[in-house]
Amino acid sequence: MAMAMFTSFWIFLVAVNVPGANGQSVQMDSSKSGFVGTQVELRCLFVNSNPPVKISQVTWQKFLNGTKQNVAIANPSLGVSVLQPFKERVSFKQAAVRHLTPSLEDTTIIFNNLRLSDEAAYICEYTTFPAGNRENMVNLTVYARPITRMSLTTPTIIARPQKRKMTVATCLSANGKPPSVITWETRLKGEASFQETRNANGTVTVRSNYVVVPSRATHRQKLTCIVTYRNERITDSVILNVQYEPEVNINGFDGNWYLNRQDVELTCEADANPPITMYQWKL
Ligand SMILES: *[C@@H]1O[C@H](CO)[C@@H](O)[C@H](O)[C@H]1NC(C)=O
Ligand SMILES: *[C@@H]1O[C@H](CO)[C@@H](O)[C@H](O)[C@H]1NC(C)=O
Ligand SMILES: *[C@@H]1O[C@H](CO)[C@@H](O)[C@H](O)[C@H]1NC(C)=O
Repeated sequence: MAMAMFTSFWIFLVAVNVPGANGQSVQMDSSKSGFVGTQVELRCLFVNSNPPVKISQVTWQKFLNGTKQNVAIANPSLGVSVLQPFKERVSFKQAAVRHLTPSLEDTTIIFNNLRLSDEAAYICEYTTFPAGNRENMVNLTVYARPITRMSLTTPTIIARPQKRKMTVATCLSANGKPPSVITWETRLKGEASFQETRNANGTVTVRSNYVVVPSRATHRQKLTCIVTYRNERITDSVILNVQYEPEVNINGFDGNWYLNRQDVELTCEADANPPITMYQWKL
């Protein structure tokens, strides 16, 4: 039993020691995310275990589609350099990186004013002597908040006798990343159609039309659009205004009218939108 435990402990030590021969390692987050226009911090820490090694250079690289591009370099004798097109937006977090005799253990960078095109993997590579290179990677995801809008097709919908379906409202969530999900909430017996358009920059525009047969029953009904973007819920409602032709009822005839019966009355009831302004009786 004691022997077995000793064996597994030994295997563990070997496994840890193989990649970084003397235990030096580069610590980073495995993934990071931020919204367009905001700032994100990409952490990079060098664990310089005993005996310490000499850091000859630290290089940050953008890795996309199998291609590496230098972002920033910190060199103990040549200083710090942030390359185009990152120069205005990337800086080292620790002032000690820029000192004359720099400390390069923490080469965390701050990425300002994020763009969609910044989405990539970023490699932080330490060149050391005599241990050689150590590197790690962080995946940066850039989100874009969509613009959400609901609109009525027309302020006033007209119910036609042909009972044709028509789009009464549209809900739009434009240029979002990741895409939004649109759903509808209403007592109307209509149907929704959905359309997704992928933009070149990776954002997605989602559009949904709500289709009903306009009628007297759809007038003044509430229609709510629910846009779900990540864990956010954005809702917007409209009340339908449907114009429909009069529906006429004559009341008061009880089926028992006879000559000289007194006090009989017929009422004409009509409902329409817009409301009726004139009634006319004909025999
Ligand atoms: C990456 O590769 C994909 C497909 O191979 C291509 O559509 C895309 O434009 C490339 N992105 C960049 C930034 O080169
Ligand atoms: C980071 O991205 C790389 C390349 O795009 C991918 O191979 C890797 O699985 C990703 N890692 C994580 C933790 O998402
Ligand atoms: C992405 O592309 C769309 C369509 O061209 C554009 O309207 C939108 O502003 C772009 N988004 C960002 C964050 O650049």
